[in-house]
Amino acid sequence: MSTTTHQQLIEKLNARKAVVAIVGMGYVGLPLMLRFSEVGYKVIGIDIDPAKVERLNRGESYIAHIKAKDIASARKAGFTATTDFKSAHDADAIIICVPTPLTRYREPDLGFVINTTEALLPHLRAGQVVSLESTTYPGTTDEELKPRIESTGLKVGEGIFLVFSPEREDPGSATHVTKTIPKVCGGITTRCLEVGKALYGQVVDQLVLVSSTRTAEMTKLLENIHRAVNIGLVNEMKIVADRMGIDIHEVIRAAATKPFGFVPYYPGPGLGGHCIPIDPFYLTWKARAYGINTRFIELAGEVNAAMPEWVIGKVIDALNERGKALRGSRILILGIAYKKNVDDMRESPAVAIMELVRAKGGELAYADPHVPVFPRMREHSFDLKSIALSPESLSSFDCAVLATNHDAFDYAMIKQHAKLIVDTRGVYLESAPNIIKA
Ligand SMILES: NC(=O)c1ccc[n+]([C@@H]2O[C@H](COP(=O)([O-])OP(=O)(O)OC[C@H]3O[C@@H](n4cnc5c(N)ncnc54)[C@H](O)[C@@H]3O)[C@@H](O)[C@H]2O)c1
Repeated sequence: MSTTTHQQLIEKLNARKAVVAIVGMGYVGLPLMLRFSEVGYKVIGIDIDPAKVERLNRGESYIAHIKAKDIASARKAGFTATTDFKSAHDADAIIICVPTPLTRYREPDLGFVINTTEALLPHLRAGQVVSLESTTYPGTTDEELKPRIESTGLKVGEGIFLVFSPEREDPGSATHVTKTIPKVCGGITTRCLEVGKALYGQVVDQLVLVSSTRTAEMTKLLENIHRAVNIGLVNEMKIVADRMGIDIHEVIRAAATKPFGFVPYYPGPGLGGHCIPIDPFYLTWKARAYGINTRFIELAGEVNAAMPEWVIGKVIDALNERGKALRGSRILILGIAYKKNVDDMRESPAVAIMELVRAKGGELAYADPHVPVFPRMREHSFDLKSIALSPESLSSFDCAVLATNHDAFDYAMIKQHAKLIVDTRGVYLESAPNIIKA
């Protein structure tokens, strides 16, 4: 029975006849849905947010870099979105892409993953594969998902199959798309991995199969911790270089000419996004259960988290040089999304800078072509709209803080008309009297 189940599922997946349910229609789930739909699978999108479900069913996108016409094509190809977990019963593959944030004590919040798993339990059946894609600590799939799934009476590796396959989405990138980004996958058992291979083998050019779900979970964390630690290192180097009167960006450009053994990372106003500031602490938490302190992670977190304060220090000093205080000065934040060319505000360091300006009595405005209105955020509230940049508007501010280097900005105009620019991204290569590098 189990051999047949396993083989039948593999054949169905290979023949692209399988129905794929994706739970969590967000930054990760949506592009994945598009890819499965594009290669011919029928896809069901499950999300607890009825507003998103309605928009998707109308063929609309709610994420700037995901085109409505692609959602509309998927709709024509049979994609439907729903808030009803019952539809998971019709799926042969269930892929979970829900958030994995931190609690206010900076500990893993697996609430979304657990709630999703529990909502799925009544609808699971033999002959399905469940894949977790949310970034998480090693052990989540076998310690949290497997026992819950087996509480239904199904046996993982026999009736039902369970894998972990981390997402490597690079939002807004034209070079790296779902199809071309190699995908790592680990299974609970050998059969699980074989099913995982059939599930993803049709949608990505290269699959990287690893020996366990824990290895796959740890792989994703290593990738993100590697970034967090290296960004922490260049941020520290930036502070040293600044004190020595050296331009860190010039140093990085020069070092990056070394054809081996050096990878450039860039300093900035702090970490942003849903991954790099958060994921490392999933490992920190789990490592504690093994009696290990993750010192590099903590140190990088400390350096990176201090960046908004450091930038504000630069703003205060630059205003002071001009005989002004931050209190009462008009401060324009250029770019508030967490990285260039996207509208994603999650954990954006620009918002930390805005909070500091407000706390110190500065008068705030922002310009971001990707974020026309300051969005609703759990911990931040600004009643602001993006202003239009013009010579007149720019020159009306005491200081412009270049927090996010969107391509859409007219940097020459900004340089010409802003009284003072605090450049946190190394956009301006040449020094100028109105440019302060931070
Ligand atoms: N955004 C990225 O670039 C990226 C890259 C790699 C990995 N990841 C990881 O992927 C996971 C998802 O991230 P995201 O950026 O797509 O998040 P997101 O917030 O954009 O999307 C998550 C979606 O899940 C829905 N949701 C929440 N709880 C649910 C539930 N119980 N049932 C069904 N739907 C539910 C939300 O309404 C939302 O639409 C996270 O673990 C994240 O760390 C994200």
